[in-house]
Amino acid sequence: MKRTKIVDIFAPELIGQQVSVKGWVRSRRGNKHVQFVALNDGSTIKNIQIVFDMAKFDEEALKPITTGASIHVIGQLVESMGKGQSAEIQAETLEIYGTADPETYPMQKKGHTMEFLREKAHLRPRTNTFGAVFRIRHHMAIAIHKYFHDHGFFYFHTPIITASDCEGAGQMFQVTTKNLYDLKKDENGSIIYDDDFFGKQASLTVSGQLEGELAATALGSIYTFGPTFRAENSNTPRHLAEFWMIEPEVAFADLGDLMDIEEDFIKYCINWALENCKDDLEFLNNMIDKGLIDRLKEVVATEFIRLPYTEGIKILEEAIANGKQFEFPVYWGCDLASEHERYLVEEHFKKPVIMTDYPKDIKAFYMKLNEDGKTVQGTDVLFPQIGEIIGGSVREENYDKLMGRIEEMNIPMKDMWWYLDTRRFGTVPHAGFGLGFERLLLFVTGMTNIRDVIPFPRTPNNCEF
Ligand code: 4AD
Ligand code: MG
Repeated sequence: MKRTKIVDIFAPELIGQQVSVKGWVRSRRGNKHVQFVALNDGSTIKNIQIVFDMAKFDEEALKPITTGASIHVIGQLVESMGKGQSAEIQAETLEIYGTADPETYPMQKKGHTMEFLREKAHLRPRTNTFGAVFRIRHHMAIAIHKYFHDHGFFYFHTPIITASDCEGAGQMFQVTTKNLYDLKKDENGSIIYDDDFFGKQASLTVSGQLEGELAATALGSIYTFGPTFRAENSNTPRHLAEFWMIEPEVAFADLGDLMDIEEDFIKYCINWALENCKDDLEFLNNMIDKGLIDRLKEVVATEFIRLPYTEGIKILEEAIANGKQFEFPVYWGCDLASEHERYLVEEHFKKPVIMTDYPKDIKAFYMKLNEDGKTVQGTDVLFPQIGEIIGGSVREENYDKLMGRIEEMNIPMKDMWWYLDTRRFGTVPHAGFGLGFERLLLFVTGMTNIRDVIPFPRTPNNCEF
């Protein structure tokens, strides 16, 4: 008999039918006359209640049905008397696939802390919270592909192993097959890579942008969506060493176009969650963050603030003059700390802010220089609770100006001739951005630690599973 997924079982036409369900037991309770099992199969946050009439089942046969056990039940689907559910199954046959010893199975039905569950990341998808988070993660990936596909962007695959450091921040994980116990060095003590796998130093990518620019200046509009890696030693609730990034790149786009896409895209994704992840969002709204759904609806409905950095600094300086205290100093040229960003977004404007035109010294080499010679056309989208969710910019398309920035910033260009070729042959104005997938998920799920929106987080000193 064909299995019915629990997500499909609440269809009214199934009432009265015989159904077959398979899943993992959430709980069992009852007495010697009747036993109730809550079964979940991962297809939805909802459990199906299975009723065992103990006149038909042996008490011993039900004993192995403890939390976490996997079972197969065939029975009749009937309307339920119990509150909170529309249907339940009157069990006729029971098959037990696997037991889960209550003494050692860690996912018991009590409220575990997020820290505990992180140590059990191999089993946490079986909890309600992580089931909801990972289903939403899937739906967000679909939303992203759908948005770009519908808007004429091509999904372009950029390499994961690379020899260039896009952000120029030197936070790369090296990729090598060299024997680390016997490294060949030159007379200055530098490692010789000639005999390494690629014949030169290689790393895991921090961003697909540079290759994305090659594609945008050929296909027009492209996006990447893949894993990126940063060896930054920041142990914060918003940083991962391995995270997924979405990087659209658009030829012939200027700063206004860029901000329009950023805003439209992120609202589309959030709206997609509201429309396609209702049950999971309601669960998270009840259990994790009571303001979640309201906040999502609010962001979709509001117009984002567009704020030049220089104006932002003025607002922060005024706040300080009026008694606001920050841990880090504020001055023109400073890199804003997350407390500053959050003040602007959560206290001053109370809505998302797209900050633009940053001082050139705190941004990457490829950002387009403004006529003032001091600021660049970079944009950071700042979100309530999250801080920076998107980083992007108009790219410097002028060969000489780009070379000027590269020299000024001492960027090693020996392996970047191919990037400069875009500016030598048919260069065009273009712009793009990177959205941190897990930062978006933090916002959409209301979870507060980025380790809890990716199945197996990689952070300093943590590479388990
Ligand atoms: O601001 P970032 O460093 O920008 C870039 O990499 C550009 N090349 C993107 C582009 O223009 N194509 O990173 C982009 C976004 C950030 O806004 C943040 O959401 C996320 O990536 N991000 C991280 N997410 C999790 N953990 C980390 N360590 C992250 N670093 C950046
Ligand atoms: Mg950034």
